[in-house]
Amino acid sequence: MAPAEPLPEFEPYKVKVVEAIPTPTRAEREAALERAGYNLFNLRSSEVTIDLLTDSGTGAMSDRQWAGLMLGDESYAGSRNFERFEHTIRELTGFPHILPTHQGRAAENLLFSALARPGTVVPNNMHFDTTQAHVTRNGARPVNLAIPEAYDPESEHPFKGNMDVRALDALLRSEGRAKVPLVMMTITNNTGGGQPVSVANLRAVARVCRRYRVPLYLDMCRWAENAYLVREREPGQRHRPIAAIGREFFDRADGATMSAKKDGLVNIGGFLATRDPRLAERLKEMLILYEGFPTYGGLARRDLEAVAIGLIEATDPAYLAHRIGQVRELGRRLEARKVPFLRPVGGHGIYLDVRRFLPHLPTSELPGQALVVELYREGGVRTVEVGSIMFGEGTPEGREPLELVRLAIPRRVYTSSHLAYVAEVVARVYERRASIRGMTMTHRPERLPHFTARFAPKRAPRRARQ
Ligand code: F0G
Repeated sequence: MAPAEPLPEFEPYKVKVVEAIPTPTRAEREAALERAGYNLFNLRSSEVTIDLLTDSGTGAMSDRQWAGLMLGDESYAGSRNFERFEHTIRELTGFPHILPTHQGRAAENLLFSALARPGTVVPNNMHFDTTQAHVTRNGARPVNLAIPEAYDPESEHPFKGNMDVRALDALLRSEGRAKVPLVMMTITNNTGGGQPVSVANLRAVARVCRRYRVPLYLDMCRWAENAYLVREREPGQRHRPIAAIGREFFDRADGATMSAKKDGLVNIGGFLATRDPRLAERLKEMLILYEGFPTYGGLARRDLEAVAIGLIEATDPAYLAHRIGQVRELGRRLEARKVPFLRPVGGHGIYLDVRRFLPHLPTSELPGQALVVELYREGGVRTVEVGSIMFGEGTPEGREPLELVRLAIPRRVYTSSHLAYVAEVVARVYERRASIRGMTMTHRPERLPHFTARFAPKRAPRRARQ
């Protein structure tokens, strides 16, 4: 007998609570765009049909996490939930000092306020926007040292999150230890397409850091997704549990910042972890000043319980296979319609390759923003520009190496039919791409411009009078 076809795959969860999806009309979407100054951060969620703005804090918690909330011990100091939170993170990472924060950027604030100084340099494979902003706010210079393949959207390199180890070595040699307070590795590399870092690369980076006696910190937001991709792609890793691969990374680092809104599977929460007892003491003082007492760090204690549960759920291979499988499914649908996106598909979203999508629009006409606007206009899909506006000036001089629009998939929220809808919306915009016009920025804030800038569509060139 011929072997039976495998049974079809399905979401590894069933639905217990539902939330209605808004379906504004085309006219309503047009009015919303105008009111929002063509910045999709200014939309009301009731105006958005499928929200792919971010995978951060937008996931669905499990029944166990919701049950965990009911175990909240809201003591100001010494809460049971903190004990579980601290224990779980210590077990997972091996870092002894755990400081809870309300989200990732609060951990970044603590770390960079303590370590970054004017005149210093902070290397990272690729900085995320808030990370970069915290480095510069403290007067230091952020440097991105990802391997050259990371900047080629068509390269199929399996580890485009990797750091260029030689470039790191050269930087440390020329700047000296005193000028580089820490090295950071972002797993996965969000800005570069949710691309993983390999164990081999992390080991090599850690060796260089040790040689120059510079601490290595991980930005571990998407560490479980990184571990899953390592398991699939790196020789010798196939049979290892996700937690063991994660531990390979943590064992070689001096600490980490975490936004639990990603691979902590919660709607709010984060932490800073370190091996350095003196730094931990200093940071605790700041934590009390800015976040809260070190056993809650700006969170309700019940939230700490949900993080402790979520961090473990995120290591479930069935969950990860479906999660990353969903992103790939969207990729396959777009590929079938010839839509250009950054290769290979990473951990948490599809990143449209704006330069190939809208080749007729120069950087100065903000093609990424034009595409974001069109995806919303076409089908109420909310996405985000990751390019010249997020990181540069939106001018030819400020040209970013990558010009992307990210479709971030929230965890455990949307189903296959939602993704089929998204693919159709993107494909329709792609079919009429030649008619898409550029945008101008009408309000330019100083820091993190993408959140609060306002835009206007470029007018059509006037037709010559008959
Ligand atoms: N580091 C990385 C790599 C991130 O992706 C984020 C957030 C942060 C740090 C900051 O964490 O939001 O909890 O303060 N990324 C979200 C995103 C916002 O849409 O990619 P946070």
